[in-house]
Amino acid sequence: MADWDPELYNRFRRYRAEPVRHILSRLQLGDDEKIIDLGCGSGENTLELARRSKHGSALGVDGSPAMIEAARKLLDAEPAELRRRVSFELLNVPEFRADRAYSLIFSNATFQWIPDHRALFAACFEALRPGGKIVVQMPANETETAKME
Ligand SMILES: C[S@@+](CC[C@H](N)C(=O)[O-])C[C@H]1O[C@@H](n2cnc3c(N)ncnc32)[C@H](O)[C@@H]1O
Repeated sequence: MADWDPELYNRFRRYRAEPVRHILSRLQLGDDEKIIDLGCGSGENTLELARRSKHGSALGVDGSPAMIEAARKLLDAEPAELRRRVSFELLNVPEFRADRAYSLIFSNATFQWIPDHRALFAACFEALRPGGKIVVQMPANETETAKME
C-alpha cells in the first residue's frame, strides 16, 4: 500500500467530514464503548468517538505510517484523560482479526480501498461483541482518476 499525505488529505477536511457529521448525529454511544476505527487516517474521527463515550476506549488503525504519525501527534495535544483512552496503531485492515472484542466497529471512507468486502465484513462480525454495532461509510469512487494500489 502506498503511503498517504495527511496534509493534502486534510486540505479538504470540511467536505470530507460531512458524512461523518451526519453519522455522528444519529449514532448513540454508551459510556463504556470499546471502539475500533478501521482506516482512521489522521485520527479526528477516532478522537471524536472516544469523546462521546465517557469511559470508553478507542483504537484507530491505519496502513499509512504518515497517517498514524499525524494521528499520534493530534492525540498528544489532547488532555491526559482522553490520551489514556485512545491509541493508534499501524495495521493493514484486511489483516484485522479480533474475537468479540469491540462494541463499535467504525470505518469512514476506507473500505472502498479493500477489494474483498466479504472477508472484511466476516472479520468485523467476528470482532464484534454481542449487541455491538458496525458503522461503515464507503464512497463509490471506482470512476475516480487516481487509484491506490
Ligand atoms: C479517505 S482516508 C479516510 C481516513 C479517515 N477514516 C477519515 O475519515 O478521515 C482512507 C484511509 O484508509 C487508509 N487505508 C487504505 N487502505 C488501507 C489498508 N489496506 N489498511 C489500512 N488502512 C488503509 C489510508 O491510509 C487512509 O488513511
